[in-house]
Parts: sequence; structure tokens; C-alpha cells
Amino acid sequence: MLGIETSCDETSAAIVDETGIRGLAIASQDAHAAFGGVVPEIAAREHVRSLDAMVDHALDQAGVESGEVRAVGVTAGPGLVGALLVGVNWGKAFAFARELPVIGVHHMEGHLYGTALDHPEAQPPFVGLLVSGGHTMLVHAPEWGRYRLLGATRDDAAGEAFDKVARRLGLGYPGGPVIERIASGGRPGCFSLPRPMLNGRDGPDDPAYFDLSFSGLKTAVALLATELEASGEIEGAIADLAAEFQEAVIEVLVEKTARAVESLGCGRVVLGGGVARNAYLRQRLVERIGPGGEVYAPSSRLATDNAAMIAEAARRRLLAGESSPWSLNADPALTFPGLAQRRPERVS
Ligand code: KG4
Ligand code: ZN
Repeated sequence: MLGIETSCDETSAAIVDETGIRGLAIASQDAHAAFGGVVPEIAAREHVRSLDAMVDHALDQAGVESGEVRAVGVTAGPGLVGALLVGVNWGKAFAFARELPVIGVHHMEGHLYGTALDHPEAQPPFVGLLVSGGHTMLVHAPEWGRYRLLGATRDDAAGEAFDKVARRLGLGYPGGPVIERIASGGRPGCFSLPRPMLNGRDGPDDPAYFDLSFSGLKTAVALLATELEASGEIEGAIADLAAEFQEAVIEVLVEKTARAVESLGCGRVVLGGGVARNAYLRQRLVERIGPGGEVYAPSSRLATDNAAMIAEAARRRLLAGESSPWSLNADPALTFPGLAQRRPERVS
């Protein structure tokens, strides 16, 4: 399976088969750093520039000729429409010319398969915590391809909050890694930031019980930063502020995940998405879920956007007899596949 990923600012191609990852090439676009965030038009142009080379790299690593590819999996959404279009059209053209099946993949489902590539034990049933720059979702997966959405962010994604707070504090882009680094030298309790949507929720029947929100937290950091700037104290306070912000985000993510684990009676947790690289999140989750649970987090390489996870998702769908029509198109708001109703059900 040749996988293609171009939904945001990583251009990636991979070759995956039943033995695992045979080749994986990722070009991270650094052209966005100067703008403090991803510029969609630049992303699309950079994908056009790099995709051929990434495919060649992945094929070389795998020791596979392009004629030996048997199927193509490509991220069809969600993401930036211009960026997605580059990958979808490339994938369709490659597949059409060789009469191969093409399989459109949902980027966030791909993240779950990314973690499963790293950990063969990360199989359903599990609670999936998907935390990236564009999405934050808590899902229950009774089996691959069938999911129940338990909760989601009502505004900003977790990674987006890291990015926006980092930008406000002048720490650069992407914000997650730099905040994690700076926070390790800070004291979380020195400031008091809100833990959004944590208290006063009735139980699993209240949708707010699992939902998340990070926009108010981001604004609270911005207000504090403005006060600290006015009093000339901001320089000395950055590490403490970053630590308290990270603490707040992670406390909420961990608590919501623990609620899912408890109300479903399902102790296996699979993390996915760029924020899953955060070591403190993983540590706190393991502590909270306890020795009876299992927490699977992706390696750094497979946590951030990559085509191996897309190829694996496509490979599994193809094995299940699925492929996409030639009308496959980029869909920036693609809905998560196989979603059932929102309410959880105890599984044991
Ligand atoms: O999954 P991903 O590579 O791209 C999207 O699909 O969005 O996630 C990127 C996000 C960015 O917001 C970045 O700040 C965040 O993941 N991130 C982190 C860390 N490393 C990356 N957030 C918190 N801690 C980290 N160590
Ligand atoms: Zn992603």
C-alpha cells in the first residue's frame, strides 16, 4: 500500500504491507514558521513541490518499484482543502494510470492506526483520545471501522491551544514542543488558570461530561500575559505560566479520558495526534488510569502527521473489501467514518 498524506503542513509518503512500515518519508514544511501558523496557500504549493520526492524516497527505502505498488491510500479529509487536493489528485492519478484501487482515508482515524503500527496490542476495544492541531475527540472503538463519538472540543483543539498560547507568549510555532520544554522548568501552581468543563457535569448522559473547550483557557492566558507585561514581570513568569497552562490542558484531557474509561468499563486507551507526543500527558494518563489499564501512545515519528498511518488505515479498509470511487474528492470537513450515536454504553 502506498500512502499519501498532505492534509496540513507535512508532505509524506509511505509503503506499508502486512509486515509493517517498509518505507516512510516526511517533509515538514518550515516555510510557515515566519507567519506563526500554517498558511494554507503556502502549504498547498509546498506539497506540489515535495510530493514526488517523498514518494521516491518511500519506494527506495522499501526497495519497491512503483510498478509493484498494489493500492493507494490517501488522506481525503479533514484538513486544508488546497493541501488535501494535492494528495487526493496525485493519489487518484497514480492509481488510475495503473488500474489500482484508491482508498480515501479520514486523517484522524489514520492517527489511531499510527499508534497501532507502533503497538500491536493497541487493538479495539479501546477508548481513543485524538489530540492534534485541528481536532480533539474522545471516541470509543468497539472494533476497527466502528466508532462512537463520546466527546469533542466545542471550540479550539488542544494542539491549537498550545500553538496560540505559544504565539501569544512569543515562543514560536509549533507551540506544543516549546511549551512542554519550557513548562518543565516552571511551577504549575504559581498561577491559577481555569480547568474548562470539568465541574458540575452530571454524568455520562450529559454531553458536557465528555466534551472539552480550550478557547477560554487560551484567553485567560492572554489576559494574564497582558497584566504581567504591564507590570514588567512577564520575562520571569513565562515558565510558570507555561507550566500552569500545560497542567490545565492535561488535567482536563486526562479527566475526560478517565471518565470514558470508567463509564465504558474499557481500560485500554489509545492516544493519537501531535499532542500525544507530550510526555507529561502520557505520564499523567498512566498514573490516572492505574495499573489495571493500558495506555498506548505513538512514537514521535508516528504521532505527527505521516503517511504510514494513512497507508495502514487504507490497507485495513481494503482488506475489509472497501475502496473509493474515482469521484473521491478532498473534503475539508470529512466526518469520522463509522460513527454511531454519541451516548456511551457499558461494554462490560
Ligand atoms: O497531528 P498533528 O501533527 O497535526 C494535525 O493533524 O494537526 O498535530 C500537530 C499539533 C500542533 O498543534 C503541535 O503544537 C502539537 O501537535 N504538539 C504538541 C507536542 N508536539 C506537537 N502539543 C503538546 N506537546 C507536545 N510535545
Ligand atoms: Zn494529524
